[in-house]
Amino acid sequence: MDRGGNLLYIDLHAHILPGLDDGPQTLQESLQMAAMAVKQGIQIIAATPHVVEGIYENEKSNILENVRKFQAVLLKENIPLKIIPGAEIHISSHIFTLFKNKELLTINNAGKYILLELPHFQPIPPYLENLVFQLSLEGIRTIIAHPERIISVQKNPNILIPLIAQGVLLQCTLTSISGHFGEETCKTVEVLLKSSMVHFLASDMHNTGGRLNLIQESLRRIEGLVGKENAKNMISHVPEMILEGRDLRIPYSQLDQMQIPKRNLWGFPRGVFAPRGQNRDQGC
Ligand SMILES: [Fe+2]
Repeated sequence: MDRGGNLLYIDLHAHILPGLDDGPQTLQESLQMAAMAVKQGIQIIAATPHVVEGIYENEKSNILENVRKFQAVLLKENIPLKIIPGAEIHISSHIFTLFKNKELLTINNAGKYILLELPHFQPIPPYLENLVFQLSLEGIRTIIAHPERIISVQKNPNILIPLIAQGVLLQCTLTSISGHFGEETCKTVEVLLKSSMVHFLASDMHNTGGRLNLIQESLRRIEGLVGKENAKNMISHVPEMILEGRDLRIPYSQLDQMQIPKRNLWGFPRGVFAPRGQNRDQGC
């Protein structure tokens, strides 16, 4: 909550800094995105440019400097939006080198949470569990970005359960529920939401297009699935804990109940991925 008692809407995954990745290429576009985000009710954004070895080699110092500069422009332009630093780090063994060299940028540079991107079209790398474990030994907790877009998760969401048991947090994209990324992604985020496997939501905005415009509509759908209070936690309370670098306890007792039914002959888990119009309250 902010000081006025209003809902504090915090977006911890956004490509809003100009010219660093496949997000906005000009300052003008970044400013337009910021203004649109404010209109959608967002008050704090973590700028999380891609960090991909050999493609987007954004150094920590460069991201921090760009956040500082962009914040100064926002103030000058009277756009009431706070920007905090972050990075969307693509999984590779390079992460250990970044950590050793103190180059690993955590959310809000608080040293507690990293936002990790996995390949969408390949199996989950077998060394992920070890990576999560090694980072946890250093006091860093892993957040997996938009798991609903990963093909192997779409085929079997249960593969996420051991990771959650390890302390991994799952960030889903708010507008996945709108069908913006296709039907499979929509169905998968729906099943993850209904199974309490989503820890928080973020926009993953890249430009002034669809995702930014669909935020409020998507939020209404999510409220319909999980209730207003849970939806509020996922855009406000949990992100606030993360940006402050506070410990987030997940009720592990719920894990046993998370097992999602296996797919039936038609490829739909019974009672969850029912064909359109049957047993569905918020169809994808
Ligand atoms: Fe992203």
